[in-house]
Amino acid sequence: MSSTLSRLIHSRSSFPKLYTMAASRGGRPFSTDSNKIDEPFKVEEAETVNVPPPPTEKLLVLGGNGFVGSHICQEALNRGLTVASLSRSGRSSIRDSWANNVIWHQGNLLSPDSLSEAFDGVTAVISCIGGFGSNSQMYKINGTANINAIRVASDKGVKRFVYISAADFGLANYLLQGYYEGKRAAETELLTKFPYGGVILRPGFIYGTRHVGSMKLPLGIIGSPLEMVLQHAKPLHQLPLVGPLFTPPVSVTSVARVSVRAATDPVFPPGIIDIYGIQRYSQHKSK
Ligand SMILES: NC(=O)c1ccc[n+]([C@@H]2O[C@H](COP(=O)([O-])OP(=O)(O)OC[C@H]3O[C@@H](n4cnc5c(N)ncnc54)[C@H](OP(=O)(O)O)[C@@H]3O)[C@@H](O)[C@H]2O)c1
Repeated sequence: MSSTLSRLIHSRSSFPKLYTMAASRGGRPFSTDSNKIDEPFKVEEAETVNVPPPPTEKLLVLGGNGFVGSHICQEALNRGLTVASLSRSGRSSIRDSWANNVIWHQGNLLSPDSLSEAFDGVTAVISCIGGFGSNSQMYKINGTANINAIRVASDKGVKRFVYISAADFGLANYLLQGYYEGKRAAETELLTKFPYGGVILRPGFIYGTRHVGSMKLPLGIIGSPLEMVLQHAKPLHQLPLVGPLFTPPVSVTSVARVSVRAATDPVFPPGIIDIYGIQRYSQHKSK
């Protein structure tokens, strides 16, 4: 939608002084020269100026049908954004009514040539792509798939890109080598391609209601009390090797709130946000 402004310019016709004063309020300040204030305001004609509309925010959630991704889609819809999702299965099994307001794309991030259309007109991306398996599978899904997405987004002129990565788990990093190496490779690519608009969230365990088929698993039963205890145990988190075991869990609604804000707020600082940063930002009031 294009908005129109009318601009009044120089004219020979006279206007009453009162009208002149009112017109000046919304425009440039008057000269303090009293002679000039007394001069009648002169208008020759009204000129129409076409001003481009403000850009509309379109958010693409990669993995919008997953556990974290579906909460991000809901948060973004509640904030009035246009929301699209991309995943291998598209809409998948989600039956909730909010899902009717998401534009669902089907695509595989390991085949980047097929992704271009989903990124059309997108202003910000949030990636929730990740998973487990053999070391090479974990590297592909956490690393390669996200690196492909970051490159397509950069080529398409996307302004902001948020990546849901993961906290360091100390000893567990050796057991899940492909997972962490993939995450860190994707992080490096993001910081290179999006130095000003790239945000990396590193949560530990994320709790909330997870859909498994037609069942809803209330993971908050464990996560919520653990978060309460561990958020006050920050010094333990700094212990070598075992410290990461004390990373407090975080609710999926907090992760969703912070990621949508990071994707849409132009002054949200780029870079890595650890679990304590996620907790802090999630308590900030949204604009
Ligand atoms: N859940 C946690 O406690 C936790 C903790 C720390 C970090 N994280 C990170 O947070 C992110 C989201 O986790 P989550 O628990 O929400 O995972 P999830 O439910 O398994 O969601 C993963 C999403 O990725 C999509 N996907 C997987 N491979 C794909 C591919 N090749 N191309 C396109 N889409 C693909 C899946 O949809 P399709 O199967 O339809 O493709 C799904 O929507 C992950 O990066 C995870 O590592 C999670």
